[in-house]
Amino acid sequence: MTGLTRREMLAAGAAAAALGMSGSATAQHEFAGLNDIAMRKGLRFGSAVAWGQPNADRASFANPAYAALLERDCGLLVPENELKWQWTRHTQGYNFAQFDAIADYAASKAYKLRGHTLFWAPQKWFPEWLVSHDFGAQPAKAAEALLADHVRTVCKRYGTKIYSYDVVNEAVEPSTGALRDTVVTRAFGSGEAMLDMMFHTAKAEAPHAELVYNDYMSWERGTEDETHITGVLKLLEGFRKRGTPVDTLGIQSHIRLLKDLPVAAIVKESEGPWRKFLDEVTAMGYKLAITEFDVNDKKAPTDIAARDAMVADYAKAYLDVMFSYKQLKDVLAWGMVDKYSWLTGFDPRADKTMIRGCPYDAEFKAKPLREAMASAFLGAPAR
Ligand code: XIL
Repeated sequence: MTGLTRREMLAAGAAAAALGMSGSATAQHEFAGLNDIAMRKGLRFGSAVAWGQPNADRASFANPAYAALLERDCGLLVPENELKWQWTRHTQGYNFAQFDAIADYAASKAYKLRGHTLFWAPQKWFPEWLVSHDFGAQPAKAAEALLADHVRTVCKRYGTKIYSYDVVNEAVEPSTGALRDTVVTRAFGSGEAMLDMMFHTAKAEAPHAELVYNDYMSWERGTEDETHITGVLKLLEGFRKRGTPVDTLGIQSHIRLLKDLPVAAIVKESEGPWRKFLDEVTAMGYKLAITEFDVNDKKAPTDIAARDAMVADYAKAYLDVMFSYKQLKDVLAWGMVDKYSWLTGFDPRADKTMIRGCPYDAEFKAKPLREAMASAFLGAPAR
């Protein structure tokens, strides 16, 4: 790793020792699992998993190499796509076949399972039928019935098998900070009232579950993230004023190396404003969760060793800040293996090489990012 302080080098050394690593040649099975390391500090770790389409080996749990790695490192799982409306409500009815496969796998191995998501708010992620849905003569009632039925159906079906729900995902429009305007909010009449209704319904149907508002506002500066953050704060304040039962802010944490700056400079400009945001969120009594951690290495060099070091350093700095908040307990990566990461398709690098934002490379070998994560867990204050 580059640019380590003496303290960080000691922490990294301790992490390596705890992981049983004497060098990069050490066999993977000798590592302690990330969740085991996290649990020493009262944290928990897990990952998104996929059912498998379009390539079968992407089925994280049906691919033995991937499953072995999940079983070593994870205590929590979350479906990458399979509980989204595009999958469960591809037509207007319900189809839980793919998510059931994930839920069964989670139960068979005693993973704790998160529910992502009861509603993904941007219209571009709606199933087609919903975009052109006829809400009839009383659109507000019809929209409420549609959403409430969805929340009840999912919560009843899975009961205590799901311990935490992203009740609503990405409702704030980053460019304005206002709630997103979609065919559903228009039918409902008010975005706020719609969100309140969903949280109240989830609370009634799944009183055991942690209820999360999840979004992607991020700590990088000079982008729409500042407006996004202001909008999310306003939403969270509104929830508290109206008594909406929201327990936790889910911080997706798709962190991004987007600037031609050294890691230390990016961290320096990000940390202060980000802490101010987290201070305000936690002062309102919200808990925090890292729900979709990965690193977009867009502006990091092509050279693998240099890039991996930069990704690891950046992640370590971010996780250190996050872990300093004792309101944070759960940390989930958005996939464990670069080869299957959504990032390469979603936001490709200019050099067209695979993005290296997951803890393991395409050959399922642990990367410096995994070491950085282990070291951040080990360095976290206990909670
Ligand atoms: C992504 C999946 O990883 C992709 O496979 C899919 O094509 C699009 O969605 N924020 C979220 C996640 O809340 O649900 C997204 O997952 C990534 C961004």
